[in-house]
Amino acid sequence: MKGFNRKEGQLFIDDVSLKDIAKKFGTPVYVYSANKLKENLNNYVSSVRKEDKVCYSVKSNSNIHILSLLSELGSGFDVVSGNELRRCLEAGAKPEDIVFSGVGKTKEEIRLAISAGIFSINIESEEELERIINISKDLKKQAECTIRINPDLSSESHPYIQTGLKTSKFGVLKEKVDSMARKASESGSVNLKGIASHVGSQIFDKELILENLNLLIEISTHLTKQGHNLRYLDLGGGFGISYQEEKELKIDEVLTEIISVLEPLNLNLILEPGRSISGNAGVLLSKVEYLKKTPDLNFAVIDSGMNDFLRPSLYQAWHDISVVETKDKKELFYKVVGPVCESGDTFGEERLLSLDENSILAIHDAGAYGHAMSSNYNSRLKSSEILIEDEEIKVIRRRETFDDLLRQERDV
Ligand code: LLP
Repeated sequence: MKGFNRKEGQLFIDDVSLKDIAKKFGTPVYVYSANKLKENLNNYVSSVRKEDKVCYSVKSNSNIHILSLLSELGSGFDVVSGNELRRCLEAGAKPEDIVFSGVGKTKEEIRLAISAGIFSINIESEEELERIINISKDLKKQAECTIRINPDLSSESHPYIQTGLKTSKFGVLKEKVDSMARKASESGSVNLKGIASHVGSQIFDKELILENLNLLIEISTHLTKQGHNLRYLDLGGGFGISYQEEKELKIDEVLTEIISVLEPLNLNLILEPGRSISGNAGVLLSKVEYLKKTPDLNFAVIDSGMNDFLRPSLYQAWHDISVVETKDKKELFYKVVGPVCESGDTFGEERLLSLDENSILAIHDAGAYGHAMSSNYNSRLKSSEILIEDEEIKVIRRRETFDDLLRQERDV
């Protein structure tokens, strides 16, 4: 069976036992299913037309081996920093398949993007447009751009992952677009090819996506009437995934609907999915260090902490936690916590688990915003990452060592 599956109580990716992976490579360790990544990308690619672009959002999981895998399957990339852009190029991505968003692009990052010839710099402010014009003139090379609109639309996700509100730092309000488009076109050095907008993350509401689409169509039609030659609408990412029991949108159905609207308008689509490609393709494996009892609670203290996986602490996000090998022992309610010196270093409250010391736990749906958001807090070493495809086990990042940790402080 492909992807995650349980056989006789044991958790597998394809035919590889995760218990064996933990034993062989140690914990904490992130383990990804290549087949799941492929399936998730394919959900998008098979639902759009050849001229549309699916640009995987690198911030969700930027391991270069994952980027190479997705690039080979025809994915484009959405980057948010010069180094993410460089990762993609190293991974073999074509510059013309890369879009670059971000409110704080430095001069060096803009220079890199224009020189590399990426598909689009998504402009986030009038000030950034000014900077792009100057740099493209200096380089004597046209900058390919879209303007990122702040749609002022609210989603119901956690406030930290909402990006489309008027009060958020992202994009420009639609009142600004006319003058910016004029300025871009008068500069002679910016090719404005479309309009972009990302409503936020964990979106389950199709109407919100369609509202964003209609807003972009309205702006794009208006600008076209003014003589601008816009061909692309970038709808961003944000398709929600089910961490608990959320009802996911059917990607193919939503995209078919979007494309049927765009087709007569002669507009192409760009998408920037992150979590819906990498999220359910990864787990974090951790070992139980202690089962600690207090009068009120049973704690399972595990060997990964908020430095390894921040989502539960930062967003109070739910992630399923299961034992990689189920046993007949009695189930108890546990508060699952890490070793980091913060009370917020908690992965779940009241989780019904059958544990003993040394049990291996899988924290599920950790492929997106997992390792990518990890840190060295408490001088903890960053975990390794493993990619599994069929029977092939590939270490795609080795575990950090104490020497790695001190290198930048010693080599000064
Ligand atoms: N495009 C843009 C412009 C974005 O800002 C984002 C995410 C994406 C695409 C990808 O969104 P996705 O398809 O993954 O939802 N650390 C948070 C998520 C922050 C997302 C920021 N922007 C989390 O762990 O939930």
